[in-house]
Amino acid sequence: MNGFAAVEVIAAKRDRAELSGDQIDWVIGAYTRGEVAEEQMSALLMAILLNGMTSAEIARWTTAMIDSGTRLDLTAVGRPTVDKHSTGGVGDKISLPLAPLVAACGAAVPQLSGRGLGHTGGTLDKMESIPGWRATLSPAEMIAQLSSVGAVICAASADLAPADRKLYALRDVTATVESIPMIAASIMSKKIAEGTAALVLDVKVGSGAFMKDQERAAQLARTMVELGERAGVRTSALLTDMSTPLGSAVGNAVEVVESVEVLAGGGPADVVELTVALAREMVALAGLDADPAQVLASGRAMDRWRAMVAAQGGDPDAALPQPRYREQVAADEAGVVQRLDARAVGVAAWRLGAGRERREHDVQAAAGILCLVTPGETVTAGQQLFELHTDTPDRFPAALADLADAVVLASPGTIVETSPLIMEVIRHP
Ligand code: URA
Repeated sequence: MNGFAAVEVIAAKRDRAELSGDQIDWVIGAYTRGEVAEEQMSALLMAILLNGMTSAEIARWTTAMIDSGTRLDLTAVGRPTVDKHSTGGVGDKISLPLAPLVAACGAAVPQLSGRGLGHTGGTLDKMESIPGWRATLSPAEMIAQLSSVGAVICAASADLAPADRKLYALRDVTATVESIPMIAASIMSKKIAEGTAALVLDVKVGSGAFMKDQERAAQLARTMVELGERAGVRTSALLTDMSTPLGSAVGNAVEVVESVEVLAGGGPADVVELTVALAREMVALAGLDADPAQVLASGRAMDRWRAMVAAQGGDPDAALPQPRYREQVAADEAGVVQRLDARAVGVAAWRLGAGRERREHDVQAAAGILCLVTPGETVTAGQQLFELHTDTPDRFPAALADLADAVVLASPGTIVETSPLIMEVIRHP
């Protein structure tokens, strides 16, 4: 392909012109190879953030990012493939019960996941609290496990959309993460490259989410659904509430415990509701005729969980790490919980060691928070609101400071309306 001058591509976007397909292919390829300077890509990213991209530009940008690496071929799996992606939330452990549940419904779920950075936590960090479990699988191991068990949660290889890894790091330090076209292209390039035939997106809305308002979240969801469908991946999206944490456990091992409770037929109502709703959407996109609620109740999803953990070296019966220190927070007065702020709880769990500050840091498997009340619940003075877990007690003061205003109480007897968990479903027209 002919080369372009990076400065001309930047100027075109600065002047609100539509970039040509060749310009996009060139700039992504050349940047990935190190032939476009960081300061030039930074300027282009800012021009895109300010001036946006057309649907054709976003689709080509996504394809160019996919083509920067290898696309997995899952045709050998022998079952319909369907995945879920969440834009990230506090206490969002849904992948853990969902992948084995959808596998038990007859599909294969190739969950390539990441580690957490910041307050929303990562699926791999949670799974790695299971003794022996390993996140890294070769493509052949992944395909074999998808055929035999029907579900895999593992790390994405370095060759999956490498352009995105480089661009995401640059967006992070140039205040350009918030661009909807770039978020959509970033997420969808990885999911399309993973080779799944269908995809359900869980786009979170609220204080603990990336998207704080429903309108922007819906715009992101529509952009991603269109990108998926254009690439031949059947895609739909649920917009779900993330103003309050999902379930009561926020952290790593504590979220595994809560997920196993769901698989055993218990667990918090909101985690069960979202797991079953996403499973229904996935099963429908996969063209299967199973009822996830029934399958969950039958115990077959738990069997798949155990097989999935064991296939990756984990011991599903092993005791999970326990924290060396615990601390409780009690209500100062009686009242009705009007708000339990997801962001405050997420940040506090991160400070306790459940999340990492920098990519190279380790997380504490046992760190986290148990939220002991839910919005709408009546509490008495002195009732426990939170239990904090950590191995390093010098982290308690900062976490307690974050939680100081996390619970807002209305006067006793107030009727508090709680928001619906599933706010909107966006399907391809
Ligand atoms: N998650 C991603 O993978 N990419 C983004 O740009 C934002 C969230």
